[in-house]
Amino acid sequence: MKAMILSSSPRRTGNSAILARAVAEGVRDSGHECDFVVADDVLTDFLKDCRVCRRADGSCSIEDGFAAAFFENYLPSQGFIVASPIYWYGMSAQLKAFFDRMFCYIAASYPQSSSVVARMLSKRIGLVLSSEETFPTVSAGIVQQIQEFSRYTRSTFVGTVHGYGNSRGEVARDPRDPVASAYRFGRDFFSAHATDYQIDTPRSGRVWGPAA
Ligand SMILES: Cc1cc2nc3c(=O)[nH]c(=O)nc-3n(C[C@H](O)[C@H](O)[C@H](O)COP(=O)(O)O)c2cc1C
Repeated sequence: MKAMILSSSPRRTGNSAILARAVAEGVRDSGHECDFVVADDVLTDFLKDCRVCRRADGSCSIEDGFAAAFFENYLPSQGFIVASPIYWYGMSAQLKAFFDRMFCYIAASYPQSSSVVARMLSKRIGLVLSSEETFPTVSAGIVQQIQEFSRYTRSTFVGTVHGYGNSRGEVARDPRDPVASAYRFGRDFFSAHATDYQIDTPRSGRVWGPAA
């Protein structure tokens, strides 16, 4: 399988990028493919009014790398892992812009939108965060947003890795060792038990099977 990791901090060697790279290493070590994309390399603009900037052939006229990242990395991947610093108790503007720009290709005014929607369904989704503050709900807003995106796209939110640090690279000194957790998260990303039941979901009633 293939995962796309989107690293969205402007600090390429910063805390969330360190965690994201550890996740990528884990994904690859478990035998899966991993495309590592830095949001700043592909995004130069926010979503605009599609009525104003959509070309006659339906394509988006914003000339940056978003379309390539969306069609060549995101859509063909079975896993999507987003990494962000916590900014103002939310995600980075780069990451938000990546989600927003998807709209251009799922809007009815894009001729192949139904094929895009079909390829957005049923992925495994992961979240990688770094922050200065450690209180438990510092990440609550982002976690909720990613859960809603997962629900909306009928995807499975596998989980979150969160490291604490402020200065560049400081996350490596977090005594809980989130870098090692990030590696394990990547290694187990496609195999980890991950559930979000509906009332009629067939299930055994046990999480881990019968005791030995
Ligand atoms: C604009 C901005 C807003 C921030 N807001 C928060 C915040 O709300 N809560 C927090 O714990 N840390 C906040 N921080 C600190 C970063 O989350 C922290 O330094 C993080 O590790 C940076 O990750 P990076 O190295 O991947 O960029 C903020 C930093 C910046 C630059």
